[in-house]
Amino acid sequence: QNHVVIMAGGIGSRFWPLSTPEFPKQFIDILGCGRTLIQLTVDRFKGVCPDENFWVVTNAKYVDIVKQQLPMIPENHILAEPAARNTAPCIAWACWSIKQEEPDANVVVTPADAVVMNPDEFRRVIKNALAYTATNNDIVTIGIKPSRPETGYGYVEAANVKEGEILHVQEFKEKPDLETAKKYLAAGNFLWNAGIFVWNVNTITESIRKYTPNIAADMDKIVATGDVEAIFPSCEKVSIDYAVMEPASQEGKVYTHPADFGWSDLGNWASLHDKLEKDEQENGAVGNIHMYECNNCVVHAEDAKKVILQGLDGYIFSEKNGQILVCKRSEEQRIKEWSTES
Ligand code: GDD
Ligand code: MG
Repeated sequence: QNHVVIMAGGIGSRFWPLSTPEFPKQFIDILGCGRTLIQLTVDRFKGVCPDENFWVVTNAKYVDIVKQQLPMIPENHILAEPAARNTAPCIAWACWSIKQEEPDANVVVTPADAVVMNPDEFRRVIKNALAYTATNNDIVTIGIKPSRPETGYGYVEAANVKEGEILHVQEFKEKPDLETAKKYLAAGNFLWNAGIFVWNVNTITESIRKYTPNIAADMDKIVATGDVEAIFPSCEKVSIDYAVMEPASQEGKVYTHPADFGWSDLGNWASLHDKLEKDEQENGAVGNIHMYECNNCVVHAEDAKKVILQGLDGYIFSEKNGQILVCKRSEEQRIKEWSTES
């Protein structure tokens, strides 16, 4: 059967005050559509697997939020990390757990905070990739056509066709520097790694065993003793991209399914502005917002009773729980730093 693992342990510090370490962005209705990002993530997998095959890996302090927002997920499928160790231990724990339940499961791992504009096409691509990994012991990443030399993403160099829409990956490169990213963009055969991985449970557990034996040993211990509290916090802190994808690609074990389903990583206010519906002055707003002579603003103040803004050009305005941000859009990269100061 198919299983879907949602990674939901990030803190989203660029979206302060909407997103805070107590209540991060994946649990917020950031698009103002009535569903939070993690709910939208589950929605788009409807039909890919039954409710009881969803898994959420998150920090222990978010477990109650997950239960409340996703009541149909079985309680023992909400894995509560005692400490954040990045995505390799997160994926390892989920896959070791799935294997206990179903030794030949087929698995999709997805972030909780991306947006997809075309869910029908999304499901077609995911089902296609799952059909492939049901009978092939390969790692498949979903590849997105890049539109800018983004240094915050991983890149895959797509080569010849393996089967149907599945292409062989020449190289997986996580977060290249700007120079390299520009080269990749110009070359034309590189795709962004969407951070969505498709593989069968044996492929991933064996890959983790091979490329990061420390993490595999810790997972064996967790399965044997059940003592997550004692073992997980000292797991190697590393992302799956560095720990598995890069070395696996060097051995020719990585494949990609190119996809065009309106993917976007909601990583900052600029990307939110992109996704929101805009008025004639290019303002995107969520909440009861009244704007006069404002241009090119992004406003999110869902809980505020009423907001009046005048004369703002290129600003971010946000309110949540009595915390307020007013910041020029061109300075938004500084918010992360400010929000983590006490
Ligand atoms: N449970 C858990 N525990 N989840 C985590 C942890 C953790 O310690 N750290 C991160 N996550 C979750 C985040 O909430 C997010 O949903 C997902 O894992 C990816 O983590 P990010 O921290 O957002 O990764 P990234 O954006 O730097 O890079 C990844 O995603 C890009 C696409 O958005 C990589 O896979 C890149 O290659 C990829 O291009
Ligand atoms: Mg991310």
